Amino acid sequence: MIDPSDLARLEAAVERALVSGDECELTILGYGEVSLVIGWPFDAPVLACKRLPVFADAASCSRYAAVVDDYVRALHEHGVDVLETEVHSCRTAGGGTTGFVVQPVVPSEMLGPNVLHAATPDPQHPFLVAMSDATTGACSPTLGLDAQLSNWVWRDGRLRYLDVSTPFAWGDDGTLLLDLPVLVQSLPWVMRTPVRRFVLPNVIARYREPRAALLDFCGNLLKERLDAWVPAALVAANERAAPAITESEVHKYYASDARLWDVMLKVRRLDRIWQRKVRRRPYRFLLPGPITR
Ligand SMILES: Nc1ncnc2c1ncn2[C@@H]1O[C@H](COP(=O)(O)OP(=O)(O)OP(=O)(O)O)[C@@H](O)[C@H]1O
Ligand SMILES: [Mg+2]
Repeated sequence: MIDPSDLARLEAAVERALVSGDECELTILGYGEVSLVIGWPFDAPVLACKRLPVFADAASCSRYAAVVDDYVRALHEHGVDVLETEVHSCRTAGGGTTGFVVQPVVPSEMLGPNVLHAATPDPQHPFLVAMSDATTGACSPTLGLDAQLSNWVWRDGRLRYLDVSTPFAWGDDGTLLLDLPVLVQSLPWVMRTPVRRFVLPNVIARYREPRAALLDFCGNLLKERLDAWVPAALVAANERAAPAITESEVHKYYASDARLWDVMLKVRRLDRIWQRKVRRRPYRFLLPGPITR
């Protein structure tokens, strides 16, 4: 989807943004909890590019790309239609290896949150039915997905999934195939080991259990200011998951989830100030802007 010279130009622009602390040259398409999504080309984006952290070496980047490819294949095999996705590696200015997860840009009215904002709450809404079926069909002890609304698109009457940069896939022996050290790289180093050992395994485990993934979907509707959709989403979820999820469980769950992600982001922002103002060096990650929870 993208040729190496364009990828090098994109990475050079990211590097300039990291050094200057000013992201205005980049066209930002969206913010996840972990990363920024950059549109390419900047003036009229046709590709959505998600920059990965810097890997320890080129081999780690290839391993990551293989895990993403396998994950996309496994999701397809279990009935989840994933947007076309490619992983590309490229050299950083410092001589290291980073990469981008690249997908075609989906028009904004087709993104999950906009689809539901434009519709009337209904447990039989085709999006809700397809999402609940896809989630229950895919989640298993070796495969998970993040069912939150912003990870789905509705295009030509078809549900598609877009968030594959954090592949939730486990081997038969129960080990997570994703390289956790890569995932926690943007945290200050004192936090990496505790988060990797104690926080992430619990957070990630919930993505492979259908009921937990659907509870997460319902809770996330509150973040998306779609409270009116919660009753309909609960009906859809409870037709497929047991024991039944209640509205108060959704609110309680969302409050604790929002706190967790809020703390993670605040810690990274503080680290950014520390690196730039005290240590006088560039902060190496692009962080999401303010998130209303
Ligand atoms: N292909 C795309 N076309 C249009 N917008 C996109 C596309 N991919 C992502 N976005 C926007 O960017 C947001 C974040 O993307 P994505 O979910 O892939 O990253 P993320 O949530 O940071 O992933 P992670 O789980 O690794 O944190 C999406 O919710 C969506 O709004
Ligand atoms: Mg996402």
